Amino acid sequence: MRVLATRRYPGPAFDELTDVEVLPLAALDGPRADVEGIVVANELVPLDLLPELRVVANFGVGYDRIGVEACHARGVVVTNTPGVLDAATADLAFALILATRRRVVEGDRLVRSGGWGRSWSEGTLAEELTGSTLGIVGLGRIGSAVARRARGFDLQVLYTQRTRVETELADYRELDDLLAESDVVTLHTPLTPETEGFIDARRLGLLRDGACLVNTARGELVDEAALVAELVFGRIRAGLDVFAAEPHVPTELIGLANVVLTPHLGSATRQARKAMTRLVVDNLRAVERGDPPLTPVSAGR
Ligand code: 8YV
Repeated sequence: MRVLATRRYPGPAFDELTDVEVLPLAALDGPRADVEGIVVANELVPLDLLPELRVVANFGVGYDRIGVEACHARGVVVTNTPGVLDAATADLAFALILATRRRVVEGDRLVRSGGWGRSWSEGTLAEELTGSTLGIVGLGRIGSAVARRARGFDLQVLYTQRTRVETELADYRELDDLLAESDVVTLHTPLTPETEGFIDARRLGLLRDGACLVNTARGELVDEAALVAELVFGRIRAGLDVFAAEPHVPTELIGLANVVLTPHLGSATRQARKAMTRLVVDNLRAVERGDPPLTPVSAGR
């Protein structure tokens, strides 16, 4: 099966693809009837240029940009990589929780700028994480992994999601109540028409003074202009790994001390990325053999 891959995906499994062509989508300038499989990283699949396409293997768990419904309408199988990046993403969320709550990056800047002595001023003191309330929006695989990590920090853990579940990991709250009661809020929900922009200006206004908002999910979950306004005003803090129009980061954020910025690193560990490529290749092979894919996407945007 001839496969297009939009980049060389990391890990040894990629080399098992015997008939693969690495080509960014922007370079695809005409129809390609020879291509039956494509590997993308949550990118819109140009179905019109790929008349014989059988499978889209997404390198990632989120598939909001692919055009899943159009693929399914054409009988194209779509797969993703759930499970193998939960620990990596939960670790990064926790890194951002600690970094924002304990002002780690500001401390780094103090050292580098010769300002060590200022670390004794009241103005540079942080809030303790231990004993505070963590609100998890979306208690799926990654949200649950964050909740498990929270145990070691003696946090009170709240969660919200569409379907309430019986769990010992966290106490359920309605979204607005969770926002108002939490010291740190972390987002772990997929981007869907229902969740797009659901953390809007009104909901940002529910956050406590000094609260931290951490987003390792999707930038579009938050009304980014409203978030930027809150951060410029300085009432809250944020740890942001994702942005509405990546790789664009709103320029107002660059100079702000109350926000920690990372370039979509959620799954960026050697272990996770290697396992993601493994799953991508196994899904492609299953479809090639005519077997059911290991991790198909059943519905989507
Ligand atoms: C990216 C992600 O897909 O899995 C997801 O939903 O956002 C990430 O794993 C990956 O970083 C490649 O862009």
